[in-house]
Parts: sequence; structure tokens; C-alpha cells
Amino acid sequence: MDRRSIGECATRLDPRAPSARTKLTKKLPAQGLSTVPNPNPSRHASCTAVIGLQWGDEGKGKVVDILARSHDAVVRYNGGANAGHSVVVKGERYALHLMPSGILFPGKPAVIGNGVVVCPETLLKEIDGLRARGVDTSGLVVSDRAHVVLPYHKAEDALREQMLSRGSMSDAGGAGGDLSIGTTKRGIGPAYAEKVQRATAIRVGDLLRPDALRSKLDLACALKARTLGALTNDAALAVAWDADAQFRSCVAWGERLRPHIADTVYMLHDMERAGKTILFEGANATLLDVDHGTYPYVTSSSTCALGIGAGTGIPPQKIGRILGVMKAYSTRVGAGPFPTELKDDTGARIRERGREYGTTTGRPRRCGWLDLVAVRYSAMINGATGLALMLFDVLSGFDELKVCTKYRVRGEITDRFPPDAHDLSVAQPVYETLPGFGEEIASCTDRAALPANAARYVAFVEEQIGLPVDVLSVGPDRAQTMIS
Ligand code: GDP
Ligand code: IMO
Ligand code: MG
Repeated sequence: MDRRSIGECATRLDPRAPSARTKLTKKLPAQGLSTVPNPNPSRHASCTAVIGLQWGDEGKGKVVDILARSHDAVVRYNGGANAGHSVVVKGERYALHLMPSGILFPGKPAVIGNGVVVCPETLLKEIDGLRARGVDTSGLVVSDRAHVVLPYHKAEDALREQMLSRGSMSDAGGAGGDLSIGTTKRGIGPAYAEKVQRATAIRVGDLLRPDALRSKLDLACALKARTLGALTNDAALAVAWDADAQFRSCVAWGERLRPHIADTVYMLHDMERAGKTILFEGANATLLDVDHGTYPYVTSSSTCALGIGAGTGIPPQKIGRILGVMKAYSTRVGAGPFPTELKDDTGARIRERGREYGTTTGRPRRCGWLDLVAVRYSAMINGATGLALMLFDVLSGFDELKVCTKYRVRGEITDRFPPDAHDLSVAQPVYETLPGFGEEIASCTDRAALPANAARYVAFVEEQIGLPVDVLSVGPDRAQTMIS
């Protein structure tokens, strides 16, 4: 399928078309609050969200890239440079970290919302890298209220991980073993913690306010020298953070980013009022959500659809379509419970076929069978209206495919997901075994032409989750996508 026909198919997911949810609402009897007339029904629920339903790297970048052409703006609302979203266009691969994936559409607003933590150094490198490849980055807009990740946040991230890996504050190590989270060391947790602590936090808008910036940095650097010093006995690592140097960097970053900095809340509401459609690009994924994920082995933001309101200022009733993105199997990077993990040859085979190595850190991803208990939970938390089933081609060639449909927890069978890491660590998967398919499907362009056992797998997923597979992906390229 060429790029134009993919585009034509993608318009089937056009947010202006009535969604499944809208159709359902029409059937409901008018009662209670629903009898209050909608002041402007034509503008209702015109936004779409793309959210990962597992532990990240589900292929969100590819799905956003496909849907971006039928939307007027692409917006990130959470996370930071911990994300790594790959998009492959005509064999060219782009790895985006802070840049919304919509940047590959020239001039289209690609918005970094207020809920994101922005490392200006990384963002500027990304802008330069894309420009060097001929990509027009003029569409980038960064919220003046997004928070800035500074070098001391990255240092703190690394020091905390080092300390936690010893299981204790003492150099001799503790009895607790390795307690590290396995973060990306991009300073995400410390930057969000600073935001919540308030007084010393720097927002993107502060990069353009030298006086406020200077006084915040003086306070922050004095505090960091003490707190980071306390995290290590290594004198070289307990650097006295120099406020002058930080100030100079921040001012230089501000000058370069100045044309892109704006009040994105009013900008997005103005667009929405003008009938434009907005696509929200989730970073990280639901099972890494700070509230609803496998805590404490999570990231530090609201990664699921529930985070969109806080992270952009757009209220939830404007989001009509929530596409849950899932791999046809499971992966996880970093520490934390993973009930269907395969530490054997089958796991290694999935890793090699799926090229499961981190887009941000290059770490090998842990691999396992599809966990439908987890995905059902994520679909519920997000209010997903449909699914994008990704990396399906990776499952070709296995004699049989196992799918976890329930857990056994302390002898009891349950279909509920216990998100707390302690509770989840004792959950044992209960599998159903489906027949495998030997045929390669990477060039398949029509769902009706799928091998029978492949079609059976897709139908099983739809039935178990109770949602349609709207997007079926059989390779990294835009063209390797079936949209229904
Ligand atoms: P994201 O973080 O959710 O955007 O996902 P990543 O980009 O980190 O990881 C997904 C990887 O799978 C990337 O290397 C994609 O190019 C690749 N990919 C996406 N869809 C498919 C697919 O259907 N088949 C295969 N084989 N690879 C895919
Ligand atoms: P995308 O958007 C996969 C994981 C890290 C670690 C935990 C906390 O590409 O799907 P952090 O640096 O955020 O404090 O790390 O969260 N993690 C991801 N894993 N994909 C991601 O993003 C991730 N973002 C964070 O590996 O286990
Ligand atoms: Mg990724």
C-alpha cells in the first residue's frame, strides 16, 4: 500500500467522523444531565488520543505519524526525553524523544504541553538533528508552563539509582538487594519532584525572565550542592552547582527557543473553538503511570489519557477517540514485575525478531507473551474506544502462541490486575494456547488475506478486550499498516 492509500485509510479514523462512543451515546435515553443541550454539538469531542496500554514502546510513534495527517495539531502532554518514539518513512528512521511525532508534517503545530518536563539541551539537539535531515521544525510550540530539566536533575537521577542499586545508603550495601527503578537517567523523576516542591522549579517561560530565573537558580544550586552531596561519598560527584554557569546555559537556551515558546493552553482552546482537530501523543505508557501503573516501578507522570487534561488544559469531554496501542506480545525495560516474562529462548527469539532494544537507552527489552489481564485493565483506565495492535509480524513462525487471560494469585484465579508491584510480583499467568502461523505477514495489506491462525489471534484479542482492532501493524513502515 502506498503512502496515499494509507492516508486515505487513515481518514477512516478521522475525528470528524462519528466515533463508536458518539454512536452509543445516541442510543441512550435522554435523562438527567444528558437532557441539558450541548451548546455546540458540532465541536464536541473532536480530539483523539494515542496511548500505550503496556510498559512503553508499543509503537505509539508510528500510530501518531499515521493519524497526524488527519489532525491539525499533535500534542505531547506528559513525560520528557525518557520517551523514544520511532517513525519510519520510506525506509528513513526517525527517533523522537521530546519532539511530538507530528513534526514530520511540515508546518503542522507540534506542541509540547505544560505537563511535559523539557531538557532544553536535548530538545535543541533534536531540532538540529532534524533540520540537518531536511525536516522543517517551524511547527514546534513549547508551553511556557512546561518545566525545565536541568543538569542537576540528571545527576540526581543517576545518584539515586546508584544508591538504590546497593539497597542501602551505606557503601557497604544493605540487605535489601537492588532497589533501583532502572530509570532512563534523563532526570525525569527529580524534575517532576522539583515541580511539586515549587520554589526552585524553573519553567520554560522563566528562561525568558532573567531576574526570576537568576533568583530561582541561586536557591536551587545552593540546595543541590547540599542534597546531591548527601547522596554520595564520592567528592567528585558532590559537585558544587555553579549558579553562574547554569544561568548562562538557561539564557542561551531561552534565546534559541524563544520563537517556539507560547501559552499553549489558549492556543489549543483557540484551535478547538475554530473546529480544528487535535491529536494527543501519550509518552511512556499506562502501566508506567505514577498513579495507575506498577508502582513504584513506574515513571513520574500521568501517562494515561487521564493525564491529558492536566498536561494540556484541554478538558476530557473534548476527547472522543482514545486509541489504545499494544504490541501483539509484551515488553518491559527497566525493573519491576512482569508476569508473562520469558527468560528463555522464546523470549530471546521475540527480542531478536522484534529488534527489542530501547530507542532511548539501547537497553535490551525484557520480552514475554501477551498479557490480556494487564491490557484489559489499561483499556479500562483509559476509556479506550479502539485498539492498535502492533508488531504482529514478529509472531510469525512460532508453533504456538500463548496468551495470558487470567492470573493465579495465592491459589485464587482472578481476571483483575493488581497494579501495586508487591501484589503483582506474586501473580502467575494462566495461559490459553492458540495455534501459531508460519507465514510471514509483513507484506500483507488486507486483513481478509491474513493466514487463518493470524486472523484467529486478532479476533481473540478483540473478544478478550471487548474493543475492535482499528489499526493492525505488520512492520515499522507507514505502508505496513491495515486500518479498519
Ligand atoms: P513507542 O515508544 O511506543 O513509539 O515505540 P518505539 O518506537 O520505542 O518502539 C517500537 C519499535 O517497533 C520501533 O522500532 C518501531 O519502528 C517498530 N515497529 C512499530 N510497528 C511495528 C510493526 O508492526 N512491526 C515491526 N516489526 N516493528 C514495528
Ligand atoms: P516510550 O514513550 C519504555 C521506564 C524506564 C524505567 C521507568 C522509569 O518510548 O514508550 P524514568 O526515566 O521515566 O524515570 O524511568 O520507566 N520508561 C519507559 N520504558 N518506554 C518508555 O517511553 C519509557 N519511559 C520510561 O525504563 O523502567
Ligand atoms: Mg519508545
